[in-house]
Amino acid sequence: MQDQRLKDFLKEFIISDSQLQELYKRFTSEIQKGLTLATHQQADIKCYMTYVQDLPTGDEKGNYLALDLGGTNFRVLRVSLQGHHEAQIDSKVYVVDKELMTGHGTKLFDHIANCLAEFVDEHALNDQHLPLGFTFSFPCVQVGLTEALLTRWTKGFRCAGVEQEDVGRLLKEAIARRGDLEIDVMALLNDTTGTLMSCAHRNPECRIGVIIGTGCNACYVERVENADLLEPEYKVDKPNILVNTEWGAFGESGKLEFVRTDYDRKVDKDSLNRGGQLFEKMISGMYLGELVRLVLADAITQNLIFVRSGEKQRLTNILKDNAGCVETRFISEIENDTFPAFLQTRNILKELLGLENVSVEDCQKLKYICECISKRAANLVAVGISGLINKIAEPHVVVGVDGSVYRLHPHFDTYLREAMQKLVNPKINYELMLSEDGSGRGAALVAAVASKN
Ligand code: BG6
Ligand code: GLC
Repeated sequence: MQDQRLKDFLKEFIISDSQLQELYKRFTSEIQKGLTLATHQQADIKCYMTYVQDLPTGDEKGNYLALDLGGTNFRVLRVSLQGHHEAQIDSKVYVVDKELMTGHGTKLFDHIANCLAEFVDEHALNDQHLPLGFTFSFPCVQVGLTEALLTRWTKGFRCAGVEQEDVGRLLKEAIARRGDLEIDVMALLNDTTGTLMSCAHRNPECRIGVIIGTGCNACYVERVENADLLEPEYKVDKPNILVNTEWGAFGESGKLEFVRTDYDRKVDKDSLNRGGQLFEKMISGMYLGELVRLVLADAITQNLIFVRSGEKQRLTNILKDNAGCVETRFISEIENDTFPAFLQTRNILKELLGLENVSVEDCQKLKYICECISKRAANLVAVGISGLINKIAEPHVVVGVDGSVYRLHPHFDTYLREAMQKLVNPKINYELMLSEDGSGRGAALVAAVASKN
């Protein structure tokens, strides 16, 4: 892409090497603050204890149910752990619509219990009394494995009556209200914990689980002596504890202002959780499309793209009036498209803006806009993963990664590795591994490991 004016316009999305180092410094100090009792309350990154202290051995066996709430899909799963690092999984996706996401919590949990009952019925599991792992992918203060108080909703959920409550209890009560299900809720976990466990099941060197999907977060293995928040009795027999960082909240006390743009501020202002999850809002699938929408509208206004169409006003109106119209998957499709045909890009532009006969140059410009925004996201994730790898400081660290942005974007992995090279201690060997069935296999493993203790 040769257009210097567009390059200048997008400069604020390019993270320089010195900014990357500064972000790294601020991130690691925030992690330390979260882990330390005296500073925990003020820390952006809370570093919650998960009470999961054992990684799987691969020998785990048994049948489990799992619930997965908080990613793109709500799913109920049946997981059969078969030893030898193997698992077999059946799952079904159920709809959770906007009304349920923002209505009363009782309705949400009744819906979850109803879906669970339907699944159990369809799979003829009624009389098996299966243990269940609940992957609930929101920030929680855990009080042991089966009690988790939701600190706040994120990612477009805002159900009344759930914040500060134990989501394990809310699930059990909804199951009890039905009166026809016999289920043991054995474990509550975050999706990053599920990802870590699921990858560790296949590769024992896995120490970090990362989600780059609707939201963005990571979990890692910490030594108990570094976990100030952990009660002493958990430090006696076990050397480690999984920590759910909730790094999506980084920036809430102003530490990202030196890289945030007015577009980020607008995305935040229009969100359900204003002022919260600022790091996540620069990275994750729920917001990347919105950033592209706002940037593109401004680029059109400033005559930087689609000038030949002569339809500046119509195009900017469409973009400005339709929040959510640029889906994050469009970014992946556009960045995957090839010069000079740009077939996918042209299809998207026709559907989204009614534009036809777009020039090759304009397609290249749009691709460049998407690249700047997704590269910045990958740089930010690299800061987080590198910080955790260097903190763990083992010679070989495997990182399990999941989430739609990481899975679907054609170059996210490459951007991420490029930036990580600048930050990870060269003495450490690391591997990024795509996670399979994080919430299913991971939830079953947490439940399995819990029942061993
Ligand atoms: C899935 C995991 O594959 O990825 C879920 O099993 C997780 O537990 C999800 O929440 C995150 O990605 P997304 O893109 O669905 O938010
Ligand atoms: C949000 C949630 C976090 C979750 C992440 C990925 O950041 O707060 O708990 O792990 O999204 O789904």
